[in-house]
Amino acid sequence: MAKADQVKALLRAYAIDDKQNFYSVALQMAADEAVRGHVKFAAELRDLVDAAKATRGVAPAPRAIPLVQPKGELSELLTVHYPHEHLQTMVLAKEVQEKLQRVLVEQRQHERLSAHSLAPRRKLLLVGPPGTGKTMTAAVLAGELRLPLFTVRFDSLITKFMGESASKLRLVFDAIKATRGVYFFDEFDSLGLQRGSQHDVAEMRRTLNMFLQLIERDDSNSLIVAATNHGKDLDTALFRRFDDVIRYAAPDNTQIQSLILSRLGAFASNALNLERIAEAGVGESHADVVNACNDALKDAIMAHETSVSEESIIRHLRERASMKIG
Ligand SMILES: Nc1ncnc2c1ncn2[C@@H]1O[C@H](COP(=O)(O)OP(=O)(O)O)[C@@H](O)[C@H]1O
Ligand SMILES: [Mg+2]
Repeated sequence: MAKADQVKALLRAYAIDDKQNFYSVALQMAADEAVRGHVKFAAELRDLVDAAKATRGVAPAPRAIPLVQPKGELSELLTVHYPHEHLQTMVLAKEVQEKLQRVLVEQRQHERLSAHSLAPRRKLLLVGPPGTGKTMTAAVLAGELRLPLFTVRFDSLITKFMGESASKLRLVFDAIKATRGVYFFDEFDSLGLQRGSQHDVAEMRRTLNMFLQLIERDDSNSLIVAATNHGKDLDTALFRRFDDVIRYAAPDNTQIQSLILSRLGAFASNALNLERIAEAGVGESHADVVNACNDALKDAIMAHETSVSEESIIRHLRERASMKIG
């Protein structure tokens, strides 16, 4: 393949997140360079491919997923995505990792379990502070299971359909039954916390209660994932409606180091003092750490540098922390 074709093939593979093809084209380029006598460059390319495999994984090419689009009234209540995200891209506490793995294992064998009248885990409550990976988890579950991710739009449910939220919610649960997918109810408890007229508040309470009942009654083969930032205030009766409750927390020192390494990829030099950066980042969320790395990466790239300095990441971490306080 000529170089131009290789670059095009690389971009095509990148566009559909076809990792295997991406790596194999890159390795072909390395082989071609070696043939041309550019041995050092070829070795560098191969190292970069290895590093990319280590951080991004080598998942197989995506299989086609049947595309479904919510129609009619549903289109105002649900948005659909087809994520390609993988569990290995997440940095998680061991317990969270194991729980998600368990969900995936049971889901992958859902037919076998059902044949023995056993239901796979599929109703999950994710609890934890912002930026710790709850939304990402919903995408990862859909990506790993090759299912569509439906995000439920509570804002429409409340503002647009005030007075008929109960019937709209039923419509959503009909869809859950009709189309297997991951259904994500983000910040579902905001239903109970919104301000409004007394009448509205009463309706929102009723809608929240109804939501919980619908979850309890649901016997579909979809995954229902509800997320909330307010773990402490939740009614314990609520937890019983779910097959598992997964608690997210800010990353610890080692998790921060993994996040930085995976985000920086080839821009992480061996000289980088990860320990020092992690100390500066303790207490910040995963999202804060990733965003600080992104800022530092941009600085390096715009300055034509090939690696990121720890000062740069620490500075961006501090900036982000002060944004939250200020
Ligand atoms: N556990 C994690 N591992 C890796 N990246 C994460 C993690 N949590 C958050 N991120 C990064 O932060 C971004 C925002 O996280 P998100 O899932 O929206 O958090 P939440 O829904 O808990 O507020 C993600 O898209 C991802 O880039
Ligand atoms: Mg979220």
